Amino acid sequence: MSVVQFDTYAKKSPEPWVAPELAIIVPSYNERDNVGLLYEKVTAALGDTPFEFIVVDDNSPDGTSEVVREMARQHQNVRAIHRIGRRGLSSAVIEGILASAAPYFAVIDADLQHDETILPHMLEKARAGDHIVVGTRYGDEGSVGGGLSRTREAGSKLATRLSGILTGKALSDPMSGFFLMRREIFDEIAPSLSDEGFKILLDIIVSAGRTHARQGRELRISEVPYTFRPRHAGESKMSSLVVVQFLGLVVSKLSRGLLPTSFLLFGLVGGFGVVVHMGTLWLAHEQFAFNFFWAQALATVVAMTFNFVLNNELTYANKKLRGWRYLSGLLSFYAVCSIGALANVSVASWIYAFDGQFYLAGLLGVLMSVVFNYSVTRVFTWR
Ligand code: GDD
Ligand code: MN
Repeated sequence: MSVVQFDTYAKKSPEPWVAPELAIIVPSYNERDNVGLLYEKVTAALGDTPFEFIVVDDNSPDGTSEVVREMARQHQNVRAIHRIGRRGLSSAVIEGILASAAPYFAVIDADLQHDETILPHMLEKARAGDHIVVGTRYGDEGSVGGGLSRTREAGSKLATRLSGILTGKALSDPMSGFFLMRREIFDEIAPSLSDEGFKILLDIIVSAGRTHARQGRELRISEVPYTFRPRHAGESKMSSLVVVQFLGLVVSKLSRGLLPTSFLLFGLVGGFGVVVHMGTLWLAHEQFAFNFFWAQALATVVAMTFNFVLNNELTYANKKLRGWRYLSGLLSFYAVCSIGALANVSVASWIYAFDGQFYLAGLLGVLMSVVFNYSVTRVFTWR
C-alpha cells in the first residue's frame, strides 16, 4: 500500500466544487480490474453533467476498495464506501444511494455489462418527469448480446413474468440492475425496502407503485433499451441461490412484507429437512436395521445438520458463518432446534387435548417450532 503524501495535495490548485446532479452508484465485489475503466467510460459518457461516483464495496478480497480510494485521490467526484462484515447487493445499493445528496441517482454494475452510454438519455427522461428510468435488455431483438447464458436467459424471462404479477406493469426487464431515478421517490419508500437479495429494482417498483397508488398518484416508469455486454474481468456472483432468494422476495412482497424473505427460506429449508429426516430414518431403520429409537435420533441429527448448512448458504447468505463461528453456530442451532422440538410437542399435545384432531395439532406444532427456531436462531446463531 502506498503512503499518502499530504503535502502533494496542498500544491495542487483545487478545482472549483460543483454540486453533483447525478450520483452513480456502483456495488462491487471483486471488481478491482473493472472500476477504473468504468469510471473513465462514465466520465466520457456524461460529458458536462456534474456527477459523483460512489462505489460500495463489501471488503472484496481482491482489494477493490483500495483501488477506489486511489481513484478518489485523483478525482474529487469519486467516493469509496467500504463495508466490513457485510455482504449483499441490495443493501450495498441502498447504502450508496443514501450516501449521496444528488437529486438523481443511477445504479450500474461494476463489470461493464451495462451500457453507460445510455446514461445521458436516461437522465434526460428523468429530468423531463419520469420517476424511474430502467435500462432494459429486452427492448429489441437480440439485445441480450453475449452477456447471458441460455439457462440464465430462460430463468431471467421466467423471473420477468413472475415479477409482472407483482408490479402489474408491462415492464420488459424488471430484473435489470441498471436504472436511474429521482432521489425523492426513493426516500419515500426506503424504509419498506428489503435489504436481502439481488433484486433491488423490483422491490423499488413494487414499493413505489403501492405508495403512489395509495395516494392516487401515477408512478411514471420508462425504459431505455441497450445491449447487455459480457462481463469485462472477474466472475459473476449470481448463483442458483440467488434465484431461490428471488422467489422468496416475490412471495414476501405478495404477503406485503408480513413474511420476511428469510422466514420463507427458513421454512422452505425446514420442508427439505423433513424429507431428509424421513429418508435417513428409512435408510437407518429399514435398510441398516437400527432400532427405531436410534434411527430416529440419527435422522434428527442429520436433518438438523442439513438445515443448518442450507440455512447458512441460502437463508443467511449475507451473514454466512465461517471457521470457528461455523462450529459454534452449528451447536447453537442444535440447541435451539431441540428446544423448538420440545415446544412443538407440548403445543401439539395441548391442542390435541382440546381438539382431538391429530393433523391439526401436528401441523400447528410444526408451525410453532418453525417460528420458534426462526426467531431464536436469528438472535443466537445468525446475529
Ligand atoms: N457490494 C456488493 N456486495 N456488490 C455485489 C455483491 C455483494 O454482495 N454481489 C454482487 N455485487 C456487485 C458485483 O460486483 C457487480 O458489480 C454487480 O453487483 C452485479 O453482480 P454480478 O455478479 O455481475 O451479477 P450478474 O451479472 O450475474 O447479474 C446482473 O444481471 C442480473 C439480471 O440477470 C446484475 O445486473 C443483476 O443486478 C441483474 O439482476
Ligand atoms: Mn455482471
